[in-house]
Amino acid sequence: METRETKPVIFLFTFPLQGHLNPNFQLANILFNRGFSITVIHTEFNSPNSSNFPHFTFVSIPDGLSESEATNPDVIELLHDLNSKCVAPFGDCLKKLLSQEPTAACLIVDALWYFTDNITEKFGIPRIVLRTVNLSAFVAFSKFHVLREKGYLSLQESQADLPVPELPYLRMKDLPWFQTEDPRSGDKLQRGVMKSLKSSSGIIFNAIEDLEPEQLLQSLKEFPVPHFCIGPFHRRVKASSSSLLTQDMTCLSWLDKQEPESVIYVSLGSIASIDESEFLEIAWGLRNSNQPFLWVVRPGSIRGTEWIEILPKGFMENLEGKGKIVKWAPQIEVLAHRATGGFLTHCGWNSTIESICEAVPMICKPSFGDQRVNARYISDVWRIGLHLENKIERVEIEKAVRTLLTRGSQGEEIRKRIMPMKETAEKCLKLGGSSCRNLQNLIAYILSL
Ligand code: UDX
Repeated sequence: METRETKPVIFLFTFPLQGHLNPNFQLANILFNRGFSITVIHTEFNSPNSSNFPHFTFVSIPDGLSESEATNPDVIELLHDLNSKCVAPFGDCLKKLLSQEPTAACLIVDALWYFTDNITEKFGIPRIVLRTVNLSAFVAFSKFHVLREKGYLSLQESQADLPVPELPYLRMKDLPWFQTEDPRSGDKLQRGVMKSLKSSSGIIFNAIEDLEPEQLLQSLKEFPVPHFCIGPFHRRVKASSSSLLTQDMTCLSWLDKQEPESVIYVSLGSIASIDESEFLEIAWGLRNSNQPFLWVVRPGSIRGTEWIEILPKGFMENLEGKGKIVKWAPQIEVLAHRATGGFLTHCGWNSTIESICEAVPMICKPSFGDQRVNARYISDVWRIGLHLENKIERVEIEKAVRTLLTRGSQGEEIRKRIMPMKETAEKCLKLGGSSCRNLQNLIAYILSL
């Protein structure tokens, strides 16, 4: 048996947001299963639970975030703070690790750690970047400077439906958008990430190249470094908990009591927030649809409230068990449950790929970042969901839920189209499939560095 001493070592620098920690740890498990020894470097902020991963070595670095920085609702500012404050501690950590493991194979960093290019160059360790968005969103992000220069990112409402000439499938209102007070902050992030990707030794995607072949070619033109599309990650490894919040497992026993494909699952991911009126419109829309619903309401995700205290008195009781609200769910298991028939989602890429893998059609309510691009692909390119394009209103939600779940012709068409995508996601992992081949190539590449 190989020991840690004989196994090639990979350092993995995880990014401390939920939508990144999940694919970061999934990748770590994939590479561990292929014979690598994994050292996880992580911040104290949103520190992962190392006891869930006894097979990895964990090294924590002090990020020096103050209380107000760590709770900054402007996530882009938080990303910049992390990138500036971690320069010295990460450098010290890497120096120490390299003195203990001078033959380490490579460092894998999440793309949001854009500062790492200079440091790794200094230490001479190859750096591979993990980009957690899909290729379509990635290509859209890569054109950010052109989009900004052409004024597309600050167009009037009346121009929102115009097509984007540089990105054939997108309209102006589908372009990536950063939720920040200062637009220059988004530009700075994008410039940093682009520079760091261009100087990397390669890019890993939790994506399936058969679903986005054109975008892969476009990306290779812009970033002439090896690309490895080895997704869907979560289908390669057993669910392991990199969850920062406790998953409420009672969701599963509640789902057991529901009819097959009858439940609409609702979750807006780990960062997006809504206001009180949107929350109430969703609540009434779900209720009026008369379909059972399982709704994740993250504490703090409704602006101005703690949790769901603004629901009218008796709202849940009157549903007589037809609705369940939890703070956080075991999402992968929920989507895989036979009772789940649709997903009202913010269209984060992890949620989207998890839903495709279970052939669960979606209702899109995107907020920021890549989510608008994903929503456009879901509703108009792949046509595996519906898009709530207008203001969030109860009648729209009721209509969308009914369309998806009550077996009308539009819902059936959507279901028919998502099945082959699920099959593609399964086939690509099998011997000879694109993701299987790309993983073999990635491993050979890492060993050759
Ligand atoms: C954001 C972006 O939207 C995403 O596209 C980017 O790649 C990462 O940052 P986030 O808002 O966290 O991500 O959404 P998403 O990408 O969907 O990731 C959420 C993760 O949390 C998923 O893996 C999902 O399974 C998990 N989750 C979500 C739970 O485990 N329980 C829940 O109740 C909700």
